[in-house]
Amino acid sequence: MIVPNYFEDLSVLHVGTQPNRAYYMPASCRRDDLVEHRENSDRFQLLNGDWKFRYYPNVREMEEEFFIEGFDVSGFDTLLVPSVWQCHGYDAHQYTNTRYPFPFDPPYVSWENPCGAYIHSFSYEKDSLAPKAYLNFEGVDSCFYVWLNSEFVGYSQVSHATAEFDVTDLLRDGNNTLAVLVLKWCDGSYMEDQDKFRTSGIFRDVYLLKRPEKHVRDYFVHANIHTGEVFVELESACETKLSLFDADNVLVACATGAKPQMQVSNPVLWNPEQPYLYTLVLETENEVITDRVGFREIKIENNVVLLNGNPIKFRGINRHDSDPVTGPVVDLAHIKRDLRMFKEFNFNAIRTSHYPNAPMLYQLCDEYGFMVIDEADHESHGCYKLYHPEGTVLTERWAEPMADDPRFTEAAVDRIQLCVHRDKNRPCVVIWSMGNECAYGCIFEAALAWTKAFDDSRLTHYESAMYRKPDRKNDYSDLDLFSYMYATFPRMEEYFRDNPDKPFILCEYAHAMGNGPGDFEDYWQVIQAHPGFCGAFVWEWCDHAVYKGDAPNGKAMYWYGGDHGEFPHDSNFCVDGLVYPDRRPSTGLWEYWNVHRPARVCNYDGEHLTVHNYMDFLPLDQYLTARYELRQKGKVLAEGELPVPAVQPHEEGKVALTLPADGWLKILYYSKQDHPLCKAGHLLGFDEVQVGARSMAPMQESLPGNLRVEETEHKILVEGEGFVYEFIKRTGMPVRLYLGGKELLTRPMELNIWRAPTDNDRKIKLEWMAAGYDRAITRAYDFNLAQEEDGTVHIGVTASVSAVWLQRMLNLDIHWTISHQGVITADVQAARNMEFPELPRLGLRLFLPKEMNNVEYSGVGPMESYVDKHHAGWHDVFRADVAQLHEDYIRPQENGSHWDCDYVQLSGDGVTLTAVGAKPFSFNVSHYTQEELTTKAHNYELEESGSTVLCLDGYQAGIGSNSCGPKLLEKYQVLDEHLAFTLQLIPKA
Ligand code: GAL
Ligand code: MG
Repeated sequence: MIVPNYFEDLSVLHVGTQPNRAYYMPASCRRDDLVEHRENSDRFQLLNGDWKFRYYPNVREMEEEFFIEGFDVSGFDTLLVPSVWQCHGYDAHQYTNTRYPFPFDPPYVSWENPCGAYIHSFSYEKDSLAPKAYLNFEGVDSCFYVWLNSEFVGYSQVSHATAEFDVTDLLRDGNNTLAVLVLKWCDGSYMEDQDKFRTSGIFRDVYLLKRPEKHVRDYFVHANIHTGEVFVELESACETKLSLFDADNVLVACATGAKPQMQVSNPVLWNPEQPYLYTLVLETENEVITDRVGFREIKIENNVVLLNGNPIKFRGINRHDSDPVTGPVVDLAHIKRDLRMFKEFNFNAIRTSHYPNAPMLYQLCDEYGFMVIDEADHESHGCYKLYHPEGTVLTERWAEPMADDPRFTEAAVDRIQLCVHRDKNRPCVVIWSMGNECAYGCIFEAALAWTKAFDDSRLTHYESAMYRKPDRKNDYSDLDLFSYMYATFPRMEEYFRDNPDKPFILCEYAHAMGNGPGDFEDYWQVIQAHPGFCGAFVWEWCDHAVYKGDAPNGKAMYWYGGDHGEFPHDSNFCVDGLVYPDRRPSTGLWEYWNVHRPARVCNYDGEHLTVHNYMDFLPLDQYLTARYELRQKGKVLAEGELPVPAVQPHEEGKVALTLPADGWLKILYYSKQDHPLCKAGHLLGFDEVQVGARSMAPMQESLPGNLRVEETEHKILVEGEGFVYEFIKRTGMPVRLYLGGKELLTRPMELNIWRAPTDNDRKIKLEWMAAGYDRAITRAYDFNLAQEEDGTVHIGVTASVSAVWLQRMLNLDIHWTISHQGVITADVQAARNMEFPELPRLGLRLFLPKEMNNVEYSGVGPMESYVDKHHAGWHDVFRADVAQLHEDYIRPQENGSHWDCDYVQLSGDGVTLTAVGAKPFSFNVSHYTQEELTTKAHNYELEESGSTVLCLDGYQAGIGSNSCGPKLLEKYQVLDEHLAFTLQLIPKA
């Protein structure tokens, strides 16, 4: 091995690195464009680009002293910096959630420890006014050794932290050779067991900063919202002049000296809705640092989190750095796209789960108005998964191996220090997070104590604090928030009942895996109900998956855990975001968007709407404009502008509105001001109010006429004008609907209780399958045929549903009515075996000709909707073709249902089938069967059935978020003993 073994030595975290400091970008003069264009600084030399690279499967067996200048690089490839080498064909992708990908034996990692040797030649020219040179790495996974011109520069670890080296004495004018050896694993990997693809390499920018001999090394800005004082803790080797400009670039204050203090009269405050920033200019001889300052104060009073004195609610999102092509490598455009979508979809806060992001993200959050939980790069979740004898209470043993082992104190404190020091000047950062899922113990007490002592102007957070060894009393004195994830509804209520001494925060909730989440509205209700509930952060923003090109059918192939042959892996648990890997919004994102609309109608009395302002700072009329639309049966009956009352935050106001008729009233909210990420006129959400009684599509009366009926041993034939229907006695169901010269059914009709399990069904599906719901068989017992005088035919069936080797799960009474016009009415009564689990659904399934491709429905659309996940939809008449109704989850599952419908009509090839409900029902139409959606692992593997599959559901279970969150709320389960629905099928040729 060519390097000393620092990577398995807990006493060596960094060698040769500069002390921590705030991130800033120096230049020779003031520049206001260095957030997005730091290349515009004449003191910044970016070293990114094509580097020489060679991958070695094991650092221990690597003998080439590749860092010696003149080393023969003919065996080297070219690799882009920044990148991770797994995305360029080296090594392999591995997705693991909690389990360590190597034996747990700290500080030792696998004997086979892959590494990458990087060599980069660059030319350097000393700037006589800025002769010092600092080499910065903003992110290297997992640890690295650096040489410049054959000389050893240093070593560092902590993947998502900046490492800075003074290379002044090693650089020369002209050509220089930088060599970096990056290791896949190090002892730090035990503290980086985050739930993500484990990738390696130099994944963030590398650059040189040229600086004068004497310069500002560090500074910490404190801006007091009450006094207007701006106090700067300054560490500078020379005379430093500080000037503060307001947003119009008017100088408002300046100062010099070792303890500079400035005074701003009536400072304009920063908040996420009005992110007002001042510009701070720090001038020394030959160098200027341009930075931004925001006046804002976060504190807790009576268990309520206040920003600038206003109670706030975090509408938060957990964001990982993740891209389907580049993995954790994200550039400015990628970050801005995420931030733009956060704004468009009503988020106001970000948790940088589970590590500090690139510095520019925080600068952009200052500018755009997002509050940030900045999280230290620290997770040792794998300690939870060690071998424990049966009967062990895991949560009690979790802390032993690391969280409560003082050998790791230095590393834990280092990790929070790297985060806090770098980002301490960012007003957007309102909470420091010690990390994620490591359990609790002395190392976190030390990390919290340091954090609070260093910066008590922000709140501290650490969810894993609740875990403790039975014999230990945890010290929470430096922890400000009570943080929880995936809380059940009773757990939250219990918390507020028990006289809590800290505000409650959900740092993760509404696990957005696959079809879901379905409980945004239910959580929202609880969040709003308690002043001490300061908000919640959705898990998580994006699906993590690796783009592997397009399949022959044109679909993108996204691979998740296990697709790369890795062990261990956690399958598609990484595909759990509100957006697909390429940032297409999922229906869950739209659901979030409208649940978190800035205003809500809380009442309409026929003359006035009462509107509540859910913003924390802005009066409603300053934030939005509004319109109304009244619809009935797909027609707009009235519409117009709606004046927005000047309602203060968290208050209610009235606006007059009279309507010409009953129907569905939609109030649409649009942003009023241009925002750098989102133009005025952006739709921020809408309300839907039912005015008057619900008008349903009418069921058809049976008219008198001739119907011929024929009963044989196993069948019943009903023949009318232009149609023949056939029922079989085995199931009591129609097997043939022949009409207008065409067969309407390509397979016998079925009673249907199964749905392709969603990711949120992943637990309940085990019970469903044990109950045989996925292989249910309907059989009939009695078959009673009767014909009325007017010709109407009645078929009464008693039947049951069961599965091979299992007892009956349902008893059925089905009553079919066939009218002279060919209308079939199904009256289904079911009695559940109450020892069996709740049902996925209860309805009818029809296989129709593929040509029946045009769908029209009256219900909640246009995107999929379920009993608990329908807040982004509205009631209207919608039209679509079958393919458009498929929501293409990466792992196939139940999708595309429409809830609260009164009719659905399918047509094509000269035939039409309309289904009308006596009560509102749900339906799906798809080219895929639920069996196909159940079986296939990836969307691009799906094969069409050759039919148009129509599911008409009297009942369909809700969606929830039980993939990681609580069990589906009972009110959304199909749980009742007696279930009944009536549907009318109206075929027409
Ligand atoms: C949480 C964890 C996240 C993620 C999530 C499941 O426990 O903090 O990192 O693993 O569960 O997707
Ligand atoms: Mg975890």
